[in-house]
Amino acid sequence: MHIILIGAQGSGKGTQAELLAKTLNVRHVSSGDLFRKAFAEQTELGIQAKAYIDRGELVPDALTVSMILDEIQSLHGIQGTLLDGFPRTVAQAQALDRGLQRIGQHVDTAVYLAVPREELLKRLSGRIICRAHQHVYNIYTHLPRTTGVCDIDGSELYQRSDDAGPAVQRRLDIFFNETIHVLDYYGAQHRLIEVNGNRPAEQVQTTILQEIQHSLTPTALFSAPLPHKMLTGEADSPYSGFPS
Ligand code: AP5
Repeated sequence: MHIILIGAQGSGKGTQAELLAKTLNVRHVSSGDLFRKAFAEQTELGIQAKAYIDRGELVPDALTVSMILDEIQSLHGIQGTLLDGFPRTVAQAQALDRGLQRIGQHVDTAVYLAVPREELLKRLSGRIICRAHQHVYNIYTHLPRTTGVCDIDGSELYQRSDDAGPAVQRRLDIFFNETIHVLDYYGAQHRLIEVNGNRPAEQVQTTILQEIQHSLTPTALFSAPLPHKMLTGEADSPYSGFPS
């Protein structure tokens, strides 16, 4: 099973993906996290990608597509994926379809998290993430227990270089001018679900799970049953820090 999360910067893709991947028992694959990890390890890919990321631009398709397809291949088809931040261009979406076809798999569903621009800007200006595993917090809505320290792994929290200055507006412009066409690509194939992402994170999560359940084929669902408590919204929320 392969599910894609599409949304503008700050729409909550990473926040939702971390939780959904556990519930659906699929691997969370984030293109942004893979680039940041590659840079932290000072690989050639990471160093090349960093220059684009800091300017708020997309990393060229040639680098991005091979990185993601390699990551999917490395799972040897054992596990499905929740793709966060990829594809962002129609060319990437087409390359993903071809890559999956080669291993007898396909994209099941693409989920679009719709959030207004003003809200996106507020969320991005307040976001802080941890050095070790990129766990996400927010100074307005989701503070860590100890200032500057990740609740989960104890590593330092910092603001991403592309969450400040002109890069922020640039990233949003690229999303609304370019990545938005990826929605048409999946919409034309009847594989697109739109979810209102401008609500508390736990409500967004419940809706995504319900919509995924409606859209998946029985075979895909059989390999990833959704817990009843999650579908009914009775599960404990990990987001007590979010306003409701
Ligand atoms: P990437 O790391 O993917 O960044 P992004 O797309 O800019 O997405 P974000 O991480 O900013 O947003 P998110 O939707 O995950 O939001 P989050 O959950 O953190 O990519 C970085 C760069 O890498 C790109 O700019 C590009 O250069 C390059 N790149 C990556 N993929 C590429 C590709 N395919 N092709 C080419 N280049 C690529 O939430 C944001 C904040 O809001 C958090 O503080 C969170 O706590 C808060 N929040 C979340 N949900 C809610 C809610 N419901 N209510 C209130 N607050 C919330």
